[in-house]
Amino acid sequence: MKDALGDLDSVLVLGGGSEIALATVRALVARRARTVVLAARRPESLSAAAEELRTAGATDVETVRFDAGDDAEAHARLVDDVFDRHGDFDVVLVAAGVLGDQAVAERDGAAARAVVHTNFLGLVSAIVPCAERMRAQGHGTIAVLSTVAGERPRRSNFVYGSSKAGLDAFAQGLGDALAGTGVNVLVVRPGFVHTRMTAGLDAAPLATTPEKVAEATLDGLARGAHTVWAPPALRYVMSVLRHMPRPVFRRLPM
Ligand SMILES: NC(=O)c1ccc[n+]([C@@H]2O[C@H](COP(=O)([O-])OP(=O)(O)OC[C@H]3O[C@@H](n4cnc5c(N)ncnc54)[C@H](OP(=O)(O)O)[C@@H]3O)[C@@H](O)[C@H]2O)c1
Repeated sequence: MKDALGDLDSVLVLGGGSEIALATVRALVARRARTVVLAARRPESLSAAAEELRTAGATDVETVRFDAGDDAEAHARLVDDVFDRHGDFDVVLVAAGVLGDQAVAERDGAAARAVVHTNFLGLVSAIVPCAERMRAQGHGTIAVLSTVAGERPRRSNFVYGSSKAGLDAFAQGLGDALAGTGVNVLVVRPGFVHTRMTAGLDAAPLATTPEKVAEATLDGLARGAHTVWAPPALRYVMSVLRHMPRPVFRRLPM
C-alpha cells in the first residue's frame, strides 16, 4: 500500500554508524527507500551495514567520510559532492554525537569543548549546506537526533545536555526559517536508548530501543511533524521537569 513514506526514496545520514540511525535507515529501506548514503568517521567500518541494506532492497548504497570535527569548508564540499552525485535527498538524518565524560568535561575546558564541537558546532556546519541544497530542490526533511537531555540539562550530564540543547534550538529555528520552502525539519527527542552510547549505564525510566526511536521518526516523517518524542510520554514528563522550580529540580537525584 502506498503511504506518505512511499515518497521517501533517498536518505543521507550524518553519523552513519549510529545504532539509532541504522535502525531508522533499515525501517526506511523496508518502506522502499532505495538510495542510502552513510557518512561516518570510519566509512570502512560500515561495509557490513551497507551490504545488509543492499540485501534488504536498497539499490544505491554508499559510505563516505564525515567527521564533525572537520572544518566548515570540508563539510560544504562533502555535502555538495554527495548531492551532486546522487541528486535530491528526501531525508537527511543527523545522528552523529558523543556522550562524553561529564566528570572530566565539567573540569576540563578542552574535554567540554570537544563534546560541544561534535554535538553542536560540527553538525551545524554540515546541516547548513544540506538545508541549502534541500531549499534548492524544494522538498525533503532534515531529521535531527536531539534528546530530552537538552530540554532541561541536568547536573549529571549538563555538558552533553547543553550541546544537544544548542543543536535542538538550531534545528527548531532552521525549521521555522525553512517554512514555506517545501523543506521540513524534524526534531527527534529520545530519552534513554539502549545503544553503544549508553552501554554500561543504568537505564533511565521509560528507556527505549533504537527500533522504537526509528518508529517514532518514521511516524514524524509521514506526518510532516516538527517534533517527536520517543517514547511519546516523555513529552509530558519533560514538560513537568522544565517548569519545576530550580530549588526543587536541584534536589532530584539526576
Ligand atoms: N543512546 C541514547 O540514549 C540517546 C538518547 C537521545 C539521543 N541520542 C542521540 O542519538 C544520536 C545517535 O546516538 P546512538 O545512541 O545511536 O549512539 P551511537 O551508536 O554511539 O552513535 C553515535 C554516532 O556518532 C558518531 N560520531 C561520534 N563522533 C563523531 C564525529 N566527530 N564525526 C562524525 N561522527 C561521529 C559515532 O561514530 P563512530 O561509529 O565512528 O564512533 C557513532 O556512529 C546521537 O546524536 C545521540 O546524542 C542518543
